[in-house]
Amino acid sequence: MKTEVELANRLGQQKFRLLYSDTDIEQRIEILAQEINRDFAKAEPLVIIGVLKQSFIFIADLVRKLKMPIHIAFMGASSYSKTQSTGIVNITQGLASDIAGKDVLLVEDIIDSGTTMKALLKFLADHKPTRLKICSLFVKPSKMKDFATTIDYVGFVLDDVFVVSYGLDYDQKFRELAHVIELLDLD
Ligand code: IMP
Ligand code: MG
Repeated sequence: MKTEVELANRLGQQKFRLLYSDTDIEQRIEILAQEINRDFAKAEPLVIIGVLKQSFIFIADLVRKLKMPIHIAFMGASSYSKTQSTGIVNITQGLASDIAGKDVLLVEDIIDSGTTMKALLKFLADHKPTRLKICSLFVKPSKMKDFATTIDYVGFVLDDVFVVSYGLDYDQKFRELAHVIELLDLD
């Protein structure tokens, strides 16, 4: 209850619904990390490619639960304006490190239509990693119409809702909140 009151104070007139608390997120990431630790136990190193900007908090929490040596790289991709995907993906930041022959984990915050992920995978395939797996904190399966790729590690499955906080924004707002909320009545 206290959490809802704090959120209501912070969000003012904006209507919202609390979906996952900070504790829910922490517990889920612990399980994801265990799976990744098991699957990549022999990786030396595991190259984590984080997709900016939204996944920055998720990556920071996830990597601190991993047990193998890691290298970290970031890519930038953008396709969204406010709450709608434009359908055109811009790779705003490419890859500075060489991933040829390496074990790679691509870490996203959210997969909506899958358009961004499709573009990232196409880009990364040309860089010839030995193994490439995908981790996303959120997925919206009902929106992933023509995207059939398996997401290896999924945090939470969402309906067709618009979520913010824990790094995710609405028009650059609400990234810093710790509990994941659905924004209601958006235009
Ligand atoms: P896709 O290309 O349609 O899969 O969109 C992926 C990108 O859209 C994500 O990486 C986010 O940047 C953004 N996005 C999709 N759904 C949401 C949401 O519910 N909240 C915040 N950003 C979102
Ligand atoms: Mg993203």
